[in-house]
Amino acid sequence: MYQQLFKKKDITAILKESESGNGGLRRNLSATNLVTLGIGAIVGTGIFVITGTAAAAYAGPALTISFVISAISCVMAGLCYAEFASMIPVAGSVYSYSYTTMGEFIAWFIGWVLILEYLFACSSVAVGWSGYMTSLLIGWGITLPAQISHATFDHTADGWFMTGSIINFPAVFIVGIVSALLIGGIKQSAIINNVIVVIKVGVILLFIGFGLSYINLDNWTPYIPENTGNFGDFGWSGILRGAGVVFYAYLGFDALSTTAQEAKNPQRDMPKGILISLMICALLYIAVTAVLTGIVNYKELNVSAPIALAIDSTGKGLAWLSPFIKLGAIAGLSSVILVMMLGQSRIYYAISKDGLLPKFFSKIHSKHGIPHNATIFASVITTLFAGLFPLHVLSELVSIGTLLAFTVVCLSILVLRKTQPDLKRPFKTPFVPFVPLLGAGICIMQMLSLPMSTWLRLIGWSAIGIVIYFCYGIKHSKLNNPK
Ligand code: ALA
Repeated sequence: MYQQLFKKKDITAILKESESGNGGLRRNLSATNLVTLGIGAIVGTGIFVITGTAAAAYAGPALTISFVISAISCVMAGLCYAEFASMIPVAGSVYSYSYTTMGEFIAWFIGWVLILEYLFACSSVAVGWSGYMTSLLIGWGITLPAQISHATFDHTADGWFMTGSIINFPAVFIVGIVSALLIGGIKQSAIINNVIVVIKVGVILLFIGFGLSYINLDNWTPYIPENTGNFGDFGWSGILRGAGVVFYAYLGFDALSTTAQEAKNPQRDMPKGILISLMICALLYIAVTAVLTGIVNYKELNVSAPIALAIDSTGKGLAWLSPFIKLGAIAGLSSVILVMMLGQSRIYYAISKDGLLPKFFSKIHSKHGIPHNATIFASVITTLFAGLFPLHVLSELVSIGTLLAFTVVCLSILVLRKTQPDLKRPFKTPFVPFVPLLGAGICIMQMLSLPMSTWLRLIGWSAIGIVIYFCYGIKHSKLNNPK
């Protein structure tokens, strides 16, 4: 039993398997597509919402420093992802990497956690999209009835209750649209993502470019507001807490690694895609935060649409930019859903290829060359979560799942460097073991700072996963039951 649980997949076998026919997936993604898919997945709620709330609550104008710190921790994990994605360019991302380093059971567990990350990321961003869309419609004089624009269930300290709403229809709607695009094939999805990225980055650049001249230097004084006496409330501890909060804004680059099997030249382009998209996003975030806190005093930024507030505060000056910002946010959130849903379907595909989930999930559509059943399943389940549950319940599980995946990737780099030092590594993480150890350490620290309720939900989710593995996976595993 022990041997079965911890049996590892041979990397050369994985590579051979992916080379022979590529499992039916088509290699359509260029280096540029990978960079734009990365930006598509990363830039979303983080920049359009969290920047304001984090500046107001924790760091003031010094949130720019928080963004730099958070970027450094993401780059550590990003470098480790880049080594793996170029060395094992298959669809399963961390699931496949851990299958080769820690064995089947841990791989299944990580795959199950990745499903949690992508499922809850997609559904929480869809709920965020619904909020933006509803407010945009109100601006146009259309008010959606509350019964079809809010979650059906909610949770407070007193427990679960029904809100009286039937379903969050706009959230269901956007998941449906994105699913339809994904089913059309990876090429079509990448083209639409490119268009969306041009819109959202364009809007952000307009804000930075035109906002610069409205910066009032008084708003940056003091740049690091004095700590109030409580840890995390401004001062350097506030900057650190801010870094933990804005970590969410960088999530998404990891989803890119699930498309490695669809990249034209993954060995060369995957590291580029991951690292360049992360760097572009870090620069955009720092610049937006600087302009935002320069136009409006940070104390006023605790609102759901801080960029819109900054624009409104310029009076007539930037009023013309306001509808573009809303459009940018709506477009931006759509591409985050797109790439996260893509990631979710590719994880189902990869796990099913290994026999740990039914074959149904790894069927490839003969015309579109994508795992259509996995995509439809991902869309149905995301629709249910997005339509029925509120944002705060959905989003709290995203970070813990991601942090756990990042920790495993960083540690796996160390394991594989030791156990398979001669493997061909087209991209090598620099300063090993320093970078992976620091990356894993930062992620573990951030996980420990999350509330107990999040840990309990993670434990509940893991328990379901373990039951599925022992009832199904272990009996059908291709590695353990070769024909
Ligand atoms: N990074 C993504 C966002 O900010 C999850 O929406």
